[in-house]
Amino acid sequence: MSELETDKAARHRIFIGVAWPYASGPRHVGHAVPNLASDIFARYHRMAGSDVLMVSGSDEHGTPITVVADRRGVSPRQIAEENHRIIAASYEALGCSFDLYTETGTPNHYRVTQDVFLRLREQGYLFEETTEAAYDPEAKRFLPDRYIEGTCPHCGFPDARGDQCDNCGRTLDPVDLINPRSKLSGATPETRDTTHFFLDLPKFTEPLLAWIDASKEHWRPNVAAFTENWIREGLKPRAITRDIDWGVPIPVPGYEDKRIYVWFDAVIGYLSAAIEWAELQGTPDAWKRWWTLQPDGTPPARAYYFIGKDNIPFHAIIWPAMLMGYGGLTLPYDVPANEFVTLRGQKISSSRSHTTERLPWLHEFLDLFDPDALRFFLTVNAPETRDTDFSWDEFQRRNNDELVATYGNAVHRLLRFLQSRLDGVVPEPGPLDERDQAMLDQISTTFRAAADRLEAVKLRDGLGQVLDLARALNRYLDETEPWKTLKTDPDRARTGLWVALQVVSSLRVLTAPFLPFSAQRLHGYLGDTGEVASLPWEPVALPAGRTLPQPEPLFRKLDDEELDGLLARLNDEAPATGEPDTVSASAPRSPAS
Ligand code: MF3
Ligand code: ZN
Repeated sequence: MSELETDKAARHRIFIGVAWPYASGPRHVGHAVPNLASDIFARYHRMAGSDVLMVSGSDEHGTPITVVADRRGVSPRQIAEENHRIIAASYEALGCSFDLYTETGTPNHYRVTQDVFLRLREQGYLFEETTEAAYDPEAKRFLPDRYIEGTCPHCGFPDARGDQCDNCGRTLDPVDLINPRSKLSGATPETRDTTHFFLDLPKFTEPLLAWIDASKEHWRPNVAAFTENWIREGLKPRAITRDIDWGVPIPVPGYEDKRIYVWFDAVIGYLSAAIEWAELQGTPDAWKRWWTLQPDGTPPARAYYFIGKDNIPFHAIIWPAMLMGYGGLTLPYDVPANEFVTLRGQKISSSRSHTTERLPWLHEFLDLFDPDALRFFLTVNAPETRDTDFSWDEFQRRNNDELVATYGNAVHRLLRFLQSRLDGVVPEPGPLDERDQAMLDQISTTFRAAADRLEAVKLRDGLGQVLDLARALNRYLDETEPWKTLKTDPDRARTGLWVALQVVSSLRVLTAPFLPFSAQRLHGYLGDTGEVASLPWEPVALPAGRTLPQPEPLFRKLDDEELDGLLARLNDEAPATGEPDTVSASAPRSPAS
């Protein structure tokens, strides 16, 4: 293949990995950001003709799960399964079009994880080292940092945790605690030797720097800078096993009572899920189309990883290093990390009318609101470059003033008018004037402009292009006023209506990646059956003479009273019970390198 051909082949095969949520609790709306971004990207690429594979799943191992299980007095498996079901259902309600959403608890994932572990070991990228760790002599268990409590050396708080003092907020090391005790038995922890496997990250320093250098052109500058600094500060070996009994077993004799570290197995999920998908399809080798160089010279896919910023080191350094060490598998092409959605601003501002004490869970939000309303809100406010604040007033404003007023109403008044005055029949156009032509031309320029933004993972800007077309349609209708001219100049009016309907016809395609539910409804109101998602990314004509069915409004306005009622329901319910997602598992200290 020529270089041009291979480049083209790579461009049109897209692997999309989406961060695997801990199954330690449900997800709140802010967590939906990477899912939504990846879904818009995947839906666009499928319509643009790319061969897309998008996978994710629940991250079921590690202390985030065991802490919740201990507290509730049930098995980690039960916690994982409960939350996996809630999370998977909430992603489905949001419209996430995963090819596979699985979990790290599957036999396939265990097998692939152990294979990667053994291969890295064979290639000399793992080593064993004995270090000291806290041990509970009564419970006969090693203790993760957060299982040790004691008096804070800084503020004297008697119940500080080994990793952090909840009174003064300082980060701690368990050895800092005065009178440390085990959370399990109350016993004073002892220090014992424990042997673990370490990933020899320093060996990857040069290849990682070379890879970043070649990739950073098309990365978000903040992600590239963060990653490069992290590597230049010096990589240390990282422990990839733990003294716990919940996780993937270590495939080496003598390690029966330890497990693979949750992060090491979680990132392997991207590979194991692709393999599982291929097996479920009945084509066990199909995953290789995305992951490896094909025998005919076709390159692997471009791999995109959609994550929150706290996950950058694992996706931009550790996972690439693991892939390099394994060999033959494609490295990330882009890691479009998002910043966070927070609730901070809302708490400070007392002038806000609608408030809640916490970010709503994704599933409860989707019980109350249209998924497209949330998709719209989170996309126009996407934290692509900085944290954004969640606020109900902003949600209401975006919904009412933009989604409903700019787009929904334009479409609805046009379709209603067609029903009431032309029996729902798409009129035959007469000659086009300049303004008509300019309106029609804007359709194809919007397809190109939105495609450019979407391919660059600038999703907010992509949606902005589409909204500009909806705004232009409003202006066109305001200026041409077919509602009035139908009496005075029926030919002109029919032409204008036809032009406007062509814009709406294409808006169903242009909005489909962002607002798939309403795009599908609109597809029906335009008299089409089948899936809007299977249309190609290009203007689609609405033929004159077609009779359209009765439309319903695409979106609903949210008035104050209704919103307050819904929020009262949220506020009444018990506050969040999931673990905060900042839980860190105790890591064996890096050996001096
Ligand atoms: N479970 C982690 C978190 O919620 C993310 C893991 S992403 C992975 O922060 F894919 F690498 F697993
Ligand atoms: Zn303290």
